[in-house]
Amino acid sequence: MAFQPEALSLCGKCRSSIRTERCGRTGKEKNTMDRQKIVICRNLEQELAEVLRRGGYDRIFILTDEQTHRCCLPVLSVMEELKDVPEMSIGAGDVHKNLQTLSAVWTWLSEGGASRHSVLLNLGGGMVTDLGGFAAATFKRGIDCINLPTTLLAMVDAAVGGKTGINFNGLKNEIGSFAPAACVLLETGFLRTLNAHNFFSGYAEMLKHGLISTPQHLDELLAFDTGHIDYDALKPIVAKSVQVKENIVEQDPHEHGLRKALNLGHTVGHAFESLALAEGRPVLHGYAVAWGLVAELYLSYIKAGFPREILRLVTDFVRANYGLFAFDCTKYDLLYNFMTHDKKNVGGIINFTLLKDVGELSLNQTADCNTIFEALDFYRECMGG
Ligand code: GLY
Repeated sequence: MAFQPEALSLCGKCRSSIRTERCGRTGKEKNTMDRQKIVICRNLEQELAEVLRRGGYDRIFILTDEQTHRCCLPVLSVMEELKDVPEMSIGAGDVHKNLQTLSAVWTWLSEGGASRHSVLLNLGGGMVTDLGGFAAATFKRGIDCINLPTTLLAMVDAAVGGKTGINFNGLKNEIGSFAPAACVLLETGFLRTLNAHNFFSGYAEMLKHGLISTPQHLDELLAFDTGHIDYDALKPIVAKSVQVKENIVEQDPHEHGLRKALNLGHTVGHAFESLALAEGRPVLHGYAVAWGLVAELYLSYIKAGFPREILRLVTDFVRANYGLFAFDCTKYDLLYNFMTHDKKNVGGIINFTLLKDVGELSLNQTADCNTIFEALDFYRECMGG
């Protein structure tokens, strides 16, 4: 398939205000295109109890990791509906997002008597919602799962939008499916226990959502006091961020077009992430995305006319909050090589999502080696590398 550069704007819906209630399951067979019900919780226990009641499930299973078992499960354990419910706790971290863990979850569900009318609650970050979502999507050809994301990254990205899967053969998210959770319950209270690095990792995806939606949303993200986090003020911004993603996913659940907007910052970001891993200094995904945004907004500026002033504002924000991922020009070839292996490419041609302006997408763009190197020069100069 040839590259077809396209220009798209988000539709009016994507600029609309937050809807917290979505149409959920109705008891009919699940269709992979079903929308997810997303609830911004006011009272997690009540809202979860209601979702469970409406689902009419015969059995409930809870998947945690070793951290959420300790820090978050106690919040749910007091619920009458969850008394004596089987829980499985898996190792925390991406390294456990593999076939072995998946197989252990299938075994646990099978031996625990899970049926097609059972439900799996995924309580955790993106690793738990990705793996748990895939376990549910494949067990007995698919059972319901309910995502209870506990990290900012999972709330605004991993747990919403229906991407599930595991790493395989050394490749991230190599095996998986599009399988939206029956419901996603967002309890921002969980964020209070998050350390600063994990907060900023999630915030990078929010920044991306600001860039692909509206100047107003971007402005509030850039103005948010990240030095003294006001969690009450954060909650409506998180809700808005999730809405940006959901509105896109609703229109293009399987990433044939518009959903590629969500890849902004990720082509260079994934290359940074891979370089960091190869050099034994791994970085959190969101940090790599924040740095990738700087390079890709520069590409947007030179290839699509993205406003220079907004490029400067975002670069300043990233430098102030994410610091520098340092490398010299001897690493450019390797970074370029990583980009040529990105799974979003078609026919080996590097695929970028660029912007003409905030909310003005320019999908399926590419850039030659020299232009990419120029963007890396810009990144190093502006970030102080
Ligand atoms: N994380 C990008 C997406 O869900 O499409």
